Amino acid sequence: MAIVDLAALHDLAVSIAAATATEVVRRSNESFEVATKSSATDLVTEIDAWAERFIIDSISEARPDDGFIGEEGADSASRSGVTWVIDPIDGTTNFVYRYPMFAVSIAAVTETETLVGAVAHCSSGEVYHATTGGGAFVGESPLAVSDQQSLPQSLVATGFGYDAEQRRQQAQQLTHIIGEVRDIRRSGSAATDLAFTAAGLVDAYYEAGLNRWDIAAGELIVREAGGLVDLTETGNRRYSVLAAAPGVFDELRVLLKMARGHADGPW
Ligand code: IPD
Ligand code: CA
Repeated sequence: MAIVDLAALHDLAVSIAAATATEVVRRSNESFEVATKSSATDLVTEIDAWAERFIIDSISEARPDDGFIGEEGADSASRSGVTWVIDPIDGTTNFVYRYPMFAVSIAAVTETETLVGAVAHCSSGEVYHATTGGGAFVGESPLAVSDQQSLPQSLVATGFGYDAEQRRQQAQQLTHIIGEVRDIRRSGSAATDLAFTAAGLVDAYYEAGLNRWDIAAGELIVREAGGLVDLTETGNRRYSVLAAAPGVFDELRVLLKMARGHADGPW
């Protein structure tokens, strides 16, 4: 693979994520078509498709040999060794309801590592971003995970998939967690949950059944903000993620594994 200019890749990810988020917010105030995908509760809009196309076209202009994997169907091989993993709108249900918790997530990866990641939180306009080995930031400000040491005092984010049986299992598992932590948050956007973990706005985040595009950028941002991440591929190209402040990571992982004994499914 040719030598990659990490700073240029990073700036491209940040500027395109920001531009896409601005336009997504503008379009959220107009009428748009809504359809369903994997289940009756899994929504997709014409803006998701527009945003993915916009991101791919913008990146391709600068880097014509890169590959793409995107939630709305992008799947093209890389000739440069760099592939972009895109969630054009993470939190589509929130977007449809105009609940202000949705994000544009863009990561550049190689076969072996994530190089850069950008998560643009649409309603605030803030972009959380990181370069491998270069730290994590929101805008110009460095990000750091919380210094939480106590699981009972931890604020923990989680999420649920779209399959009804899977959600029942996730809710069942949650019954074993909720009494052991300060409280639970469910934002409806995995990319936002990871960005907020990186910023110390929650102490930890876990979820099973995620797609690569939900987590590619946010996972790097957490690690670069000093957090620990356990990312496990669970088959069918789905992932379980636990991202947490180092002071509570091990204890939460043990608790999740014990809770898994009561409810099926990883994490
Ligand atoms: C979803 C969100 C949600 C998470 C789901 C994801 P989408 O992505 O990230 O928070 O719980 O597992 O599928 O469908 O809004 O892009
Ligand atoms: Ca998503």
